[in-house]
Amino acid sequence: MLREIVKYPDPVLEQMGEPVTEFNDELRALVDDMFESMYAAKGIGLAAPQIGLSKRLTVIDLSFKEKPEDKIVLINPEIVFRAGKQHEEEGCLSLPDIREKVTRAAKVKVKAQDLEGKWFEIEGEELLARAFQHEIDHLDGILFFRRVSALKRDLILRKIRKLQRAGEW
Ligand code: NI
Repeated sequence: MLREIVKYPDPVLEQMGEPVTEFNDELRALVDDMFESMYAAKGIGLAAPQIGLSKRLTVIDLSFKEKPEDKIVLINPEIVFRAGKQHEEEGCLSLPDIREKVTRAAKVKVKAQDLEGKWFEIEGEELLARAFQHEIDHLDGILFFRRVSALKRDLILRKIRKLQRAGEW
């Protein structure tokens, strides 16, 4: 089922997500909905707060349905290791048409639970490392414009206000 993707300034996007505690059919259905909604919106990552649920859960698929092994579900994820730096452009389904360069670690290791509740570790570099950091930020209520300079953030917020006034947001 398609879920509506919420946009900034919906307050759920800036709340700390609650840990997922039930690993059941409902959770599996929710994850299916998240992939479906992410693909429909042409995204490569979607976090539960972006569909209005303040939960620590995110889905990622950098290959956009091309490779089944690229479908990643992270439940209650934590970054346990980070190294290096990268400075690349990011976008977000909750901030349509806004893109800005964000400094992130170049490589990260994430510890998370799977749909059965089992803990696992996964490493990512470059784009995947960025996706992990961007999506896990969502679970902490952090949108990517909180990670750019105050000047750039003001420009982004001004652009959003302008789009809102024009009824295009
Ligand atoms: Ni995002």
